[in-house]
Amino acid sequence: MGLMKTTPDAAVPKRAKDNERPLIDDIRLLGRILGDVIREQEGAQAFELIEKIRTLSVAFRRDADHEADKALKKLLKNLSGDQAVSVIRAFTYFSHLANLAEDRHHIRRRTVHERMGDTQEGSIDVALSRLRWAGIAPKTIAQTLAQSYVSPVLTAHPTEVQRKSILDAERSIAQLLAQRDSIKERSSAFDSKKGNFVWDSYLKPEYRWFNGKVSFKTIGDKIDPSRTVEINHPEGGPDQPGARIWPFKVHRGKQAYDPENKNLLVVHTAGEDDTALWHNFDWPKAIQTGMRTAGLPWSGKYDFVATEMSWPLAHMVAPKGDAVPCAQCHSDAGRLQGIDGIYLPGRDRNRLLDMIGWSVVLVALLGVLTHGVIRICVLCQPKKG
Ligand code: HEC
Repeated sequence: MGLMKTTPDAAVPKRAKDNERPLIDDIRLLGRILGDVIREQEGAQAFELIEKIRTLSVAFRRDADHEADKALKKLLKNLSGDQAVSVIRAFTYFSHLANLAEDRHHIRRRTVHERMGDTQEGSIDVALSRLRWAGIAPKTIAQTLAQSYVSPVLTAHPTEVQRKSILDAERSIAQLLAQRDSIKERSSAFDSKKGNFVWDSYLKPEYRWFNGKVSFKTIGDKIDPSRTVEINHPEGGPDQPGARIWPFKVHRGKQAYDPENKNLLVVHTAGEDDTALWHNFDWPKAIQTGMRTAGLPWSGKYDFVATEMSWPLAHMVAPKGDAVPCAQCHSDAGRLQGIDGIYLPGRDRNRLLDMIGWSVVLVALLGVLTHGVIRICVLCQPKKG
């Protein structure tokens, strides 16, 4: 345990595997923050007491230090009621925090395994392949599932009962741990030998006409390396019934192609073997394996071509406050700058239409003014006695 310690913690077993490092780091971080909170909320004395109990327990547990054991027992026996409560609370909170860190660690390890293409004990993948292995037909599985009754079961442990405010706080802490992971991953896991990525958030989508159909470049299709290769192309235009202006996320990148055969190359990227690109960054080896696996010819030459791929976006309903303001589209150089086939007020100008519009406004204004002037004149006329 690394509760509330700020110095490098000797309590971490030396044999802790590299895999466990992120877990240990998280537990230490949470312990340190808890220590700060206790100092702030309960005072320095309470903190010192808890810290003392912790060091004595560690000394006894890890080093079998019997002096420490005696001192600990004496200390605990002499705690006042209030002190005992504060000690118990501190260690309870610490256990909760350590649990959160462990949950996070499970998720982290599972992601690592999934990325490597491994399946894990307890996953649906493994369960299904076992069933296949045992000769159970997919139909039987489907039938069984269709007749199964699935229901959540609440355990009867009173200790499991928690207030919602605590659950919410725990959930937020868990989310923050996850965010830390993704920040770390972005800053460190990416090896610049792979090229470069630009990370961004709150990205503005690009808009294109779309009728729901996408045409794809497939392996072996000829490409024109003198221009950007569209890996896929959303179909549709302004004159087609059913087509809409749709938001897309566009991935722009560079990909290896064969300058002689004029097609994109299949590159073997992930894996621990000698030819995987992300393992030893050897393009020719990675291409050779990729193309052989795909059963395609390769001239032995390679170069890079700019590519782009459009991902249609859906399920992106923003909260009311974040709705796209009118001027984002209805303006020059707005989001819909490149969309043709529509007349977009604010972006497009039609002199005749504008003239007619302003004439109507002018006529209305004149009407109001004339009417007003007449009324004022009528009012100003001297009353006839
Ligand atoms: C995501 C882009 C987008 C946003 C945001 C947007 N509009 Fe539009 N607006 C359009 C498009 C596209 C048209 C249709 C142009 C066409 O059919 O020729 C349009 C048409 C219009 C028209 C013309 C009426 C019509 O029936 O053709 C008006 C008026 C208008 N919008 C007002 C607004 C107002 C007010 C807001 C903000 C509350 C707004 N728009 C926000 C894209 C947008």
